[in-house]
Amino acid sequence: MDLLIKGGTVVNADDSREADVLIRNGLIEAVKPDLSPTSECRILDASGLLVMPGGIDPHTHLEMPVGGSDLHTADGFENGGRAALSGGTTMVIDFVNPVRGQSYLEAWEQCMARARKATCHYSYHVTVTWFDQNAAEEIRILTEKHGVNSLKHFTTYRSTIMLEPDQMLQSFSLARELGCLCTVHAENDEIIVYLQQKLLEKGITHPKGHVLSRPPIAEGEATGRAIALARIAGVPLYVMHMSCSEALAAVVTARENGQEVYSESLCGHLLLDDSVYYNDDPEVAARYVMSPPYRSESHREALWEGIRAGHIQATASDNCTFTQADRNRGLHDFTKIPNGSPGLEDRMRIIWSEGVETGRLTPEQFVAVTSANAAKIFNIHPQKGIIAPGSDADVVIWDPKKQHTVSAKTHRHAIDYSVFEGMTFTGSPVATILGGEVVFENNEVTVRPGQGKFVPRPTRQRIPPCHS
Ligand code: URP
Ligand code: ZN
Ligand code: ZN
Repeated sequence: MDLLIKGGTVVNADDSREADVLIRNGLIEAVKPDLSPTSECRILDASGLLVMPGGIDPHTHLEMPVGGSDLHTADGFENGGRAALSGGTTMVIDFVNPVRGQSYLEAWEQCMARARKATCHYSYHVTVTWFDQNAAEEIRILTEKHGVNSLKHFTTYRSTIMLEPDQMLQSFSLARELGCLCTVHAENDEIIVYLQQKLLEKGITHPKGHVLSRPPIAEGEATGRAIALARIAGVPLYVMHMSCSEALAAVVTARENGQEVYSESLCGHLLLDDSVYYNDDPEVAARYVMSPPYRSESHREALWEGIRAGHIQATASDNCTFTQADRNRGLHDFTKIPNGSPGLEDRMRIIWSEGVETGRLTPEQFVAVTSANAAKIFNIHPQKGIIAPGSDADVVIWDPKKQHTVSAKTHRHAIDYSVFEGMTFTGSPVATILGGEVVFENNEVTVRPGQGKFVPRPTRQRIPPCHS
């Protein structure tokens, strides 16, 4: 059945206007005032509401095995997709993380199998966990045949996925040849390991050791180092989950020098405070362990200013969930707490509530940082990230004043707590449309397992200008 969204305000990254939206065969067919319904058409009344491109969350970890352990993240592609849709997100970009030495192609097949029942659209970054000629050949195949155009590099977690700077440079240089975007998790591993040991020697085992061992300078230094390597290799760089002013300063300096550097901030970093790590109850404090950790208010304000100024183009959740029981494995040693946080369900609400509702962002900037810029940076624009004729009909109908209170009792994450528990956000979806079908309305997700489709992302040499 066709859909006609009537009477709403269509918001894109570059403008807003009163218009109806006609959807046929999974695509947006027309965006104009006063459109008439087709013969087989459901009409959705969007009076007083906003009609925006479905959110793209460029950083999630669904059903991800944790290297060096028997753990995997709690949210999978089925329930994670439902959580995403109920919050207005229609696509995620997840990660293929080969175990060091594992075939990249084999790891790819495993990830594609895990996503078979996906309920939102998905794509994959590939983490470069080892690098030699064989790795290079397999990465080439993934980019040429499987729609991968972004590679992730870790400067920390030495025992599992960290890549040494010389290998990082080789990977960056291959990325340049292939037309891939390089991304980085930037934290200085030497500083972290040194501080972890010192803290444990002093008897500090409580989760507060996590934030004490990962100071902003460790992130700032590694961000600057990755930027330097990207400059030498001549590749664009995307800094993931940037959390502090030190890292932002490195990004701003590079951008002012004309280097192509992009960055993302997480909804959690834009909302929460590092005080959460000092909760007397280590079980509670352990829920917030993620890397880089939540920071103080001055860092948060710097990130918001970085978004407003266009130095940070995208927002993500880094959804990487673990149950309380999994967290408790590190109750007596903070270094053993699995790292990660939820956010896939609430990212759009948090950015609206903290961004638009507070006056920091316009609705157009909201679309830019929750959807359009990620689509451009990861080369799926204008297929995604815009309400325009010919684009995929992944759409959210948004009530800017609808309130939503987070509770672990009602959220769609597969964990028994929420780091946003009890918080009320203003701005929430009324309906979400995936590939031309209404899959969320009246607070119910009706999507079928497997309805989420893999989105290949071709390589290319230039990223179009992002909106700020
Ligand atoms: O703590 C985090 N962010 N866990 C997820 C993996 C990563 O580093 O992105
Ligand atoms: Zn990371
Ligand atoms: Zn992550």
